[in-house]
Amino acid sequence: MLLTGIAELVTNNPAPDRDGGALGIVRDAAVLVEDGRITWVGTAAHAGEHLSRDGEREDRREGDEHRAIWDADVELVDVGGRAVIPGFVDSHTHLVFGGDRADEFAARMAGQRYAAGGIRSTVAATRAATDDELRARLAGFVTELHAQGTTTFEIKSGYGLSVADEQRLVRLAREVTDEVTFLGAHVVPFEYREDPAFDGDAAEAADAYVDLVIGEMLTACAPHARWVDAFCERGAFTPEQSRRVLEAGHAAGLGVRVHGNQLGPGEGVRLAVDLDAASVDHCTFLSDADVATLAASNTVATLLPGVEFSTRQPYPDARRLIDAGVTVALASDCNPGSSFTSSMPFCIAVAVRDMGMTPAEAVWASTAGGAAALRRTDVGTIRPGARADLVLLDAPSHVHLAYRPGVPLVSRVWKDGAAVA
Ligand code: NIG
Ligand code: FE
Repeated sequence: MLLTGIAELVTNNPAPDRDGGALGIVRDAAVLVEDGRITWVGTAAHAGEHLSRDGEREDRREGDEHRAIWDADVELVDVGGRAVIPGFVDSHTHLVFGGDRADEFAARMAGQRYAAGGIRSTVAATRAATDDELRARLAGFVTELHAQGTTTFEIKSGYGLSVADEQRLVRLAREVTDEVTFLGAHVVPFEYREDPAFDGDAAEAADAYVDLVIGEMLTACAPHARWVDAFCERGAFTPEQSRRVLEAGHAAGLGVRVHGNQLGPGEGVRLAVDLDAASVDHCTFLSDADVATLAASNTVATLLPGVEFSTRQPYPDARRLIDAGVTVALASDCNPGSSFTSSMPFCIAVAVRDMGMTPAEAVWASTAGGAAALRRTDVGTIRPGARADLVLLDAPSHVHLAYRPGVPLVSRVWKDGAAVA
């Protein structure tokens, strides 16, 4: 397939002959796709020189000859002067769950505060759902993601919180993505908190639950997962408990990611950097020391604008992080409690409007930034060798994603070179 007529191509692959800035913009561009991968990127005028016929690479000068080559061998897609960007990489979702919490959202908008304790009501609904019910729901979300331009997405467990249920969730997630995260340490489940054996001692109940998470539960879940995560926050797990979970997960071969600094200041960032986590997510309440620690690390700060939108908390300060040299990603955190949006364009619009990001920074953060947060180099960029995950916008430039909030600008989507929306 040869995409031509691209008024603005966002490559995330800066080169001297391209527009300044990290987006590596090519104007009047063309992209050649073969067997699901990008094989060539350049200006439309030079496209003909890079086409192959019968497996052989042609090297011809511009001229009428090229038209014959295109017609014979290649599906030509002229996008009519619109913008093409890399597929969004949503590095943080919780998409396997039962029920919803619309009533909790409505109560919050009427003045109630967000409390992560609502997670337990989703745990009850998830445990009550059958595999097929969860699978059907998940399939709906995948369609929803693709339609909005997301071509790579991570999914966490964390609404099972028993060995059998957590294993069920990672197994179901693995059916739709390679980026599966074991989040047994989401909250302490009801049956531990209420167990009379702990006599109301929440810390003891949490320690006992962590024993389960790093023992039998990890053994059951690790084969289906790539990552381990822990919710390091007051009301969930202490830094010590989180560290036990993350170190055990790492020893079982999983990469580390952390939920931290969401509801208040805390140790999440320090713990994440100490363990060389790929990402620490939320980062809403950061000290200057946290920002400096992140800037000197390989850990991405993943910001989740949907959460602050839906919980009426203050937004994280992306500007402060970027100015300090921190790598920032944007993700949806799609879940039924704190952020029930799967829309990366929505996250971009909010991040630009309320978190101090430029449109270019927000687009980078939701593509290349998400890829960095998943330690991936094959997605989030349009360059030879990368996966052909492409989004055609019904707009002349990436700026419109923030400039036209709420407008469905994603017009066509290819994943591994195949049309998915
Ligand atoms: O990322 N922070 C913890 N977990 C989710 C919230 C899940 C819920 O409220 O159901 C989050 O925001
Ligand atoms: Fe989350």
